[in-house]
Amino acid sequence: MKHFKAIAAMSLNRVIGDGNKIPWHLPEDFKWFKEKTTGNIAVMGRKTFESLPGVLPNRRMLVLTRHPRVLVRNHPEIFGQFKEWRGGKHLRKPYQMRFTRLDGNPHGDLWVFKSLDLIDPKDFQCEIFICGGAQIYEQALPLCEELFLTVVKREVPGDAFFPPFEDNFELVAELRDTPEFKILHYRRRG
Ligand SMILES: NC(=O)c1ccc[n+]([C@@H]2O[C@H](COP(=O)([O-])OP(=O)(O)OC[C@H]3O[C@@H](n4cnc5c(N)ncnc54)[C@H](OP(=O)(O)O)[C@@H]3O)[C@@H](O)[C@H]2O)c1
Repeated sequence: MKHFKAIAAMSLNRVIGDGNKIPWHLPEDFKWFKEKTTGNIAVMGRKTFESLPGVLPNRRMLVLTRHPRVLVRNHPEIFGQFKEWRGGKHLRKPYQMRFTRLDGNPHGDLWVFKSLDLIDPKDFQCEIFICGGAQIYEQALPLCEELFLTVVKREVPGDAFFPPFEDNFELVAELRDTPEFKILHYRRRG
């Protein structure tokens, strides 16, 4: 059993994305996401990674794709800021690439994985947050011990949805309640 944490924001009708974008703009919620993930690890699918304006600073990003070389080839504007790091125990695993920043910032590196199974929490000292999108939540929620869920208090059209989780998680705290959203903390039952 892996012990990841998930962090997500969904609308009342369970939408998390539309056209590879998040269909709301809530700076306070972005701030919350930043607070939780800074200094830690953010795991995300290739589509979510491509939806970001750039690499998130001050945290390690783990990107999942079944075609790592294609991802690197398609984004010279991103991978040009990094050098591929070769050697060490992590690279003995197949289909995993690790990039370090050319500017030497140790907190902003980027790892590309071909499979969720290759991510072993024991390899890392800090918290590992599953950050979406829909495909990755679907696969990784069974491996998560905790869920930090922002519920946006509106219904919106969308094409990416948060999977059912209520049977397996119990609410332990309401961390914030604002007119636009609330942040709920869930823990795996049992
Ligand atoms: N509201 C939120 O909290 C939140 C958070 C994150 C994202 N989002 C939204 O979610 C949407 C994106 O979700 P999505 O489901 O379309 O895409 P996604 O989960 O971000 O990425 C899917 C991609 O991840 C790779 N992948 C999936 N499973 C894999 C596995 N087991 N091993 C290796 N690679 C794997 C594949 O990449 P390849 O095709 O390259 O192989 C796949 O196409 C966007 O609208 C985004 O804005 C919302």
